[in-house]
Amino acid sequence: MKRLKDKVALITGGAAGIGLETARLFLSEGARVTLVDLHDDDLSDAARDLGSPDGLLTIAADVSSVEDCKRYVAQTLETFGRIDVFFNNAGIEGKVAPLADQKIEDFDRVMAVNVRGAFLGLQHVLPVMTGQKCGSVINMSSIAGLKGSPNVAPYITSKHAVVGLTRAAAIEVARHNVRVNSVHPSPVNTRMMRSLEEGFNPGRGDEVKQQLAETIPLGRYGESLDIANLVLFLASDDSAFITGAQYPVDGGMAAG
Ligand code: NAI
Repeated sequence: MKRLKDKVALITGGAAGIGLETARLFLSEGARVTLVDLHDDDLSDAARDLGSPDGLLTIAADVSSVEDCKRYVAQTLETFGRIDVFFNNAGIEGKVAPLADQKIEDFDRVMAVNVRGAFLGLQHVLPVMTGQKCGSVINMSSIAGLKGSPNVAPYITSKHAVVGLTRAAAIEVARHNVRVNSVHPSPVNTRMMRSLEEGFNPGRGDEVKQQLAETIPLGRYGESLDIANLVLFLASDDSAFITGAQYPVDGGMAAG
């Protein structure tokens, strides 16, 4: 039995990394999927990578824009008629620097994508789900939403804010049978982590990666599929009694 049979899933930041791998898993579990990302060419590459299946819609949009948000929700509804699962995943890492040296423009951009973008997504998707009397939202936070670490204060701030957003939204919509949870990965092998590794020590990203992996109790980075498997659980009816919760998927990192 496919776990997302007859469901429609909307994934932001879906053209790469964790979002793309989650789309692949969702499609294999019977969902129809909308991928939202910034650029048409990246979305075309992603669609090809997924085998251009029926039941895949791609929409170029910036999640931090009110107009774009309205449009990606409206186009999903026009095409598929409903939204059962919302993976609120798009995010950026910001710059690596001590808090005192961070540029306020960079802080604003990280908050615009990671917090405002997640908030806008909820604003436009939740009314659809409460109207349906069912739905599951998975907000992408991070281990950086549970713990502090040096030199990435804007990112840490934004990912902690996603926890507040998750709890606030979960309580508001629970009576409508809509669930909202957050996931908290430790470093995962994607473009974002490669950029952070280089930011921490330019030209020596591989060494940074090795050092970081050693801080993870299971001794390795996560793979996108490790995260997608948790997102699938939270998207499916297997998690029907779970809402407002924060799920580490971190090789044990949050336990230490
Ligand atoms: P990625 O960089 O591979 O993918 C992120 C995708 O989001 C890209 O395709 C990018 O174009 C898209 N995106 C960025 N800004 C956008 C915007 N304004 N509107 C629409 N799309 C936008 O990164 P990854 O690793 O797959 O990250 C996905 C999420 O997972 C992010 O929220 C990130 O903060 C979070 N995360 C990642 C971890 C990691 O180690 N890679 C660890 C913990 C959380």
